[in-house]
Amino acid sequence: MLSLLRHVTPSCYGGRRSIATLISGNATSKLVRERLKKEVDKMKTSEFRPSLVVLQVGSREDSNLYISSKMKAAAEVGIDASHVRLPNTSTQDEVLRTIMSINEDASVHGLIVQLPLDSVHTIDMELITNAVSPLKDVDGLSCINAGKLSRGDLNNCFIPCTPNGCMELIRQTGVSVAGKHAVVVGRSKIVGAPMHDLLLWHHATVTTCHSKTPNLPEQVGRADILVVGAGRAEMVHGDWLKEGAVVIDCGINHVADETKASGKRVVGDVHYGSASQRAGYITPVPGGVGPMTVAMLMQNTVLSAQHFLANLDDKDSQ
Ligand code: GUN
Repeated sequence: MLSLLRHVTPSCYGGRRSIATLISGNATSKLVRERLKKEVDKMKTSEFRPSLVVLQVGSREDSNLYISSKMKAAAEVGIDASHVRLPNTSTQDEVLRTIMSINEDASVHGLIVQLPLDSVHTIDMELITNAVSPLKDVDGLSCINAGKLSRGDLNNCFIPCTPNGCMELIRQTGVSVAGKHAVVVGRSKIVGAPMHDLLLWHHATVTTCHSKTPNLPEQVGRADILVVGAGRAEMVHGDWLKEGAVVIDCGINHVADETKASGKRVVGDVHYGSASQRAGYITPVPGGVGPMTVAMLMQNTVLSAQHFLANLDDKDSQ
């Protein structure tokens, strides 16, 4: 398996060697992008290209970075991507009107609204994510797509990109999900809740933990497969883990580090040094789930464009 690396470098944690195999999101996402490029090459004509719009309200620095990696991946795959920016003075109505006009534009196959919204006005995020046409909702965040996923209708909905990427990374390990005990830490609409649904419909027994879960270490210790999307730096410690567990870390946290020129570094929600000595497989941060989220957005956009073309063919043959 190309995207797994035996982790043999001495760990700085207690001077011991890591035993976990590293699951590389960089390598896996590259394979996905290469596959998608071939699919796009097949469907591209002088008049047709899959197309994606990323709508941003305001100009948060972290969002700018995420969007630029989405634009770069789209260009690489052959997707026509545009970044539509609205100022941070935009009202809810203005954002809604922009979404409606993109919904109606038949040349656009995928639309995402970059979150969080950065406006001086109060904007109802639920209203915004549900305004995106379910047929173009390549983030999978609308109630329609989330509802289908929660009922196990996986082949008839857009699956949110981060959990979809996590499933792909779990697949890379060769560890089967069916019959395993999976634990998800976090219940956000973008990561934890859809991750729960995906693992469930891949036949795991799933426990979802959150801020009110008593004795989190005990719950985490029951996991054959652990997915953490809690948004808290290095919250999960290695000694909580079941020996040999598959550990997927969705966290992106900035912590102070005086040894870095920037004065900070990025860590996950899992304490990598200790966890890599107990887990069987583990994703790094950075280079784990992050690039997979972007690759899955490209995959959903290509799927949407394929559905669009198939519907055209159906109409033509009627
Ligand atoms: N902000 C951080 N991650 C995401 C994502 O996957 N989709 C959107 N729309 N916004 C995000």
